[in-house]
Amino acid sequence: MSDHLCWTGASGRNLHDLLPLPCTEAALRHLTARIAQVQDVLGRRLVLENVSSYVSFATDEMSEHAFIAELLRRSDCQLLLDVNNVYVSSVNHGFDATAYVDALPRERVMQIHLAGHEVQDGYLIDTHDHPVCDEVWSLYDYTLRCLGPKPTTIERDDHIPPLQALIDELGIARRIAAQASAPLELAA
Ligand SMILES: [Fe+2]
Repeated sequence: MSDHLCWTGASGRNLHDLLPLPCTEAALRHLTARIAQVQDVLGRRLVLENVSSYVSFATDEMSEHAFIAELLRRSDCQLLLDVNNVYVSSVNHGFDATAYVDALPRERVMQIHLAGHEVQDGYLIDTHDHPVCDEVWSLYDYTLRCLGPKPTTIERDDHIPPLQALIDELGIARRIAAQASAPLELAA
């Protein structure tokens, strides 16, 4: 069972968006208690997905990747790693996307999402209506080399292209996954 690691409303109002959490000790404690409650009821681990973001909190006490790694450790939950979301946020906030991937415990990442985004006024917006871009393919390759093979979904919600274009994207994902899991050829 999976859901996004985010908040969506306050004071009884739903804002209909996946909003970023403050990366603080207080938020870690709040989430850890709630995840434990849900996992106890379900009798299984939750899989939580990182969201893309366009703003952050002035009160943040740690990076998003440190926050997620610590949450995974404390909560015993698992991660659905959206590689496009990592890339979108890395450009919007100016952090190193590979350092984000490096911080994640490989055994806790259960699945990967890929998607396209669009550029608006210098920001990347997670619209799921474009092909996966070259930078996200590169980060996918890096992620698989770091974390090992992972089941992968390409998300596409709008501007759906002809079927062949989607099959071609699937082919790119399969090629990268095959190359990333191939044993290294060592020179004599
Ligand atoms: Fe996703």
